[in-house]
Amino acid sequence: MPTESREMISGVRSGLRLRDFARSVAIFLAPGLAGIWSVWNRLTKKGGPVLVLYGRSYGRELLRRLREMNHYVILVEQDAKRLNWRFAHETFFLDVFDLSNTQRIADLARRKRATVALSQSDDKLLPQMAAVNEMLGAGVQFSATAIGASMSKAAMHAALDQAGVRSTPNAILPPGFDLETQPVAYPLIVKADMGQGAHGYRICETPEELRSGIASVGQSFPESDVIVEQYISGRQFDVEGIIHRGEVRIYIVIEENFFRYPPRFMRCWYLFNPGLDDETEMTLRKAAVEALNACEFRSGAFHVEVRLDADGQAYAIDISNRMGADFPGSVPGTTGRDMIGDYVNSMLGREVAPPPPAGRRLELRYYTHAFEPGAQNVRREVSDNPLLIRADRGPDGTEMFVFSSESEADLRALIGKLDEFLGNA
Ligand SMILES: Nc1ncnc2c1ncn2[C@@H]1O[C@H](COP(=O)(O)OP(=O)(O)O)[C@@H](O)[C@H]1O
Ligand SMILES: [Mg+2]
Repeated sequence: MPTESREMISGVRSGLRLRDFARSVAIFLAPGLAGIWSVWNRLTKKGGPVLVLYGRSYGRELLRRLREMNHYVILVEQDAKRLNWRFAHETFFLDVFDLSNTQRIADLARRKRATVALSQSDDKLLPQMAAVNEMLGAGVQFSATAIGASMSKAAMHAALDQAGVRSTPNAILPPGFDLETQPVAYPLIVKADMGQGAHGYRICETPEELRSGIASVGQSFPESDVIVEQYISGRQFDVEGIIHRGEVRIYIVIEENFFRYPPRFMRCWYLFNPGLDDETEMTLRKAAVEALNACEFRSGAFHVEVRLDADGQAYAIDISNRMGADFPGSVPGTTGRDMIGDYVNSMLGREVAPPPPAGRRLELRYYTHAFEPGAQNVRREVSDNPLLIRADRGPDGTEMFVFSSESEADLRALIGKLDEFLGNA
């Protein structure tokens, strides 16, 4: 390796070490700093109080929007490591997943005059959010069916079946079942019943692949049942929106792809506002609305993943009574709609007008992962690409490149080109 590169790498490494060190110090000091910050805000800041529960998934888009809306944000979160106290007015560290803490959280909300608990995108927080809101008498409804379907794929399938909505053939595999006689036809996909994140999921064509797929899912989600589903091979879309007083309101459709490395699932790209013919758009919307109604979604936000098969039939494959990860941050810029603001007002019991006709700005988020040999090439290739508007590096070794263009053809050509750089065309 040339000396110059070695020096550069060691420079970067020491920069990283310094950043890690600064972060550790910040985490060590977080409870104290959060306390001082809270006292300061209590004395100086005003605004309608809202309580936000924050677990392990995304949440900063909600915190940001609440501050813009001049709310006084009371954050209850799992641990200090995320350093989120900076984005709230007051922070309380508490095990937000533990339902024996519901009373404490509700008491805290009452003391602070917050009438509702909000959260952005963590399935596992739904039981707590529902319980706290019920205790507060907030006029929102998170049905047992909706929470069940959000937290268990088997429960989602059961609710779809019960309502007569088409769902993919599926089965929970009990431990020690006979690999040869499992009940779903190949190709199938093996996943964790409780899910979130798709870690370890596999497409399987044979009992042998199923055996290793089960081991892979078991390793990623040791506490979850294993579910197999018929594998639907067409395009995939994410439909996002809110349920206002029982009515489904769709804010955005995002085409998504997790398939650069079949049989492994990892996010590869999202295309906000893909061009769809009327029939496809209608089919998608209908599938989402039917699934949400079947799973008795009544309040809050929703996230439905819909797949089209070769005949254009739509299947809801994943559903949740929450927002999809960090997507909501891109909704205003790509549609002109304030999905988070409307979610907040709806949860506060206010009337919310249906979203205005959507603007349509295309946005492509393209991901690379640290283990991909071509990731460096992609970075080099996109650094002076005129369509690039943002780049972000995640702590998990992913890198996200965000592109914008008026031409969908240009963005799709770019996907093809970057896939080629990664050796996956
Ligand atoms: N039945 C299926 N057919 C085809 N692809 C699927 C199927 N189920 C899941 N997938 C793929 O795997 C990804 C993760 O599965 P999903 O059910 O959404 O689990 P998670 O709750 O972990 O997000 C989906 O986004 C989709 O790309
Ligand atoms: Mg999913």
